[in-house]
Amino acid sequence: MDKGDHSTAPYRGPKLPNVPDDLVISGVLDMDCDERLWVPQSKDVWFRPLCFNVSQGYFVNILRVRKSGILSRHRHTGPVHATVLKGRWHYLEHDWWAEEGGYAFEPPGDIHTLEVPDGVTEMVTLFHVTGAYIYVDVDGVSLGIEDVFSKLQAARNHYDEVGLGASFADQFVR
Ligand SMILES: [Fe+2]
Repeated sequence: MDKGDHSTAPYRGPKLPNVPDDLVISGVLDMDCDERLWVPQSKDVWFRPLCFNVSQGYFVNILRVRKSGILSRHRHTGPVHATVLKGRWHYLEHDWWAEEGGYAFEPPGDIHTLEVPDGVTEMVTLFHVTGAYIYVDVDGVSLGIEDVFSKLQAARNHYDEVGLGASFADQFVR
């Protein structure tokens, strides 16, 4: 039995304490958005931040890759949710493919090597990444890490360089 109140009246009680503001971004599927929104990550790789959740240690971003080949080998310390908006990619260690319009869950602890296949000129994927990427060699030896704080720092540096100001990145922080 549905016990909800279906009246059209908005909630009229007090606001709960310490609730962060909502974060609403329009046009996230607009691939022709202001190019300055795309933060360069490496040659032919960019990310567009949607949420830097520094209090829970995760970030949500759209990754755009305009090259084929190996992107990185990494291990995750937390869960990852991926929704493919364009193109396709896979991990060398798994037999499944992340296809346009598809979704994949990557469990923490998985170590995998992301490859964009030949013929895909642009891959775009929405990633929700909790914890850190630990970049590793073929034996799993760590080479570097990336997390919500390093992504936020990169965004602040980029937005400063393109004239939007470092604080432009702060609108995505929760
Ligand atoms: Fe991954």
